[in-house]
Amino acid sequence: MDVKGQAAVVTGGASGLGAATARLLALRGSKVAILDLNEAKGQALTKEIGGIFATCEVSSEDSVKGAFAAAKAAHGPARILINCAGIGGASRIVGRDGPHDLTRFMKIITVNLVGTFNVTRIFAAEASNLEPLNEDGERGVIVMTASVAAFEGQIGQVAYSASKGGIVGMTVPIARDLAARGVRICTIAPGVILTPLADDLSPEARKALDASVPFPSRMGHDHEYASLALQICENGYLNGETIRLDGALRMAPR
Ligand SMILES: NC(=O)c1ccc[n+]([C@@H]2O[C@H](COP(=O)([O-])OP(=O)(O)OC[C@H]3O[C@@H](n4cnc5c(N)ncnc54)[C@H](O)[C@@H]3O)[C@@H](O)[C@H]2O)c1
Repeated sequence: MDVKGQAAVVTGGASGLGAATARLLALRGSKVAILDLNEAKGQALTKEIGGIFATCEVSSEDSVKGAFAAAKAAHGPARILINCAGIGGASRIVGRDGPHDLTRFMKIITVNLVGTFNVTRIFAAEASNLEPLNEDGERGVIVMTASVAAFEGQIGQVAYSASKGGIVGMTVPIARDLAARGVRICTIAPGVILTPLADDLSPEARKALDASVPFPSRMGHDHEYASLALQICENGYLNGETIRLDGALRMAPR
């Protein structure tokens, strides 16, 4: 799909990987709607790149439908969805205080997995009704964001890994469900990428993370994620695949 002139929705677009993708899509001429809980950062980015910001809780049906309505009123129906909203959290299944807190587990699943599913289903239903754009009959494209933790979660990542494994697991069935509707979907599984989350790392921890990546031996950049997300939008033959973006990193247990 040529992204120029198309309406795009980026969840988690106020920060990190979502913000980098929102910037790149805007640079390539897409009309970008940023959906995020962080209004201050979202509004600031909108001032910089244009488009609109809508406050959104990805796991709420009403919130997502309201945000999509605002985006549609400003830009017309969206053809591109980038799912970047997500949260982390570290806790072992059994810790010093006993079993893993169930509420914490459910929160991570709710935001990362249910939230991604919720936004994707609402986008896909709308995109399915649009006119095809090209000879393939393409109507829309979706990017979801998992993590290498979906494949080799570290100690303390049981909830996060479960949420990201769920996203990987949804990729093929959603591609199959949406095939007749002309909507493609791929998932990016990033390794360790420099985003605001890394600001808290000590220089030693940062050095260790850099060294853990075979080649190039450094953390990834947010623009490297954005460029892959753009390629997924542009390359009409990419569908139903989870792509690792990790410099050949295979996470150790800790
Ligand atoms: N940075 C990395 O190294 C890395 C690696 C693997 C996977 N990921 C995944 O990539 C995605 C983006 O990560 P990031 O590093 O850019 O993080 P980030 O914290 O910089 O950005 C995440 C954004 O999501 C928003 N958000 C959180 N919960 C939300 C909710 N319930 N509803 C709406 N918005 C919500 C936050 O406000 C924030 O703006 C996440 O899903 C994360 O799990 C990141």
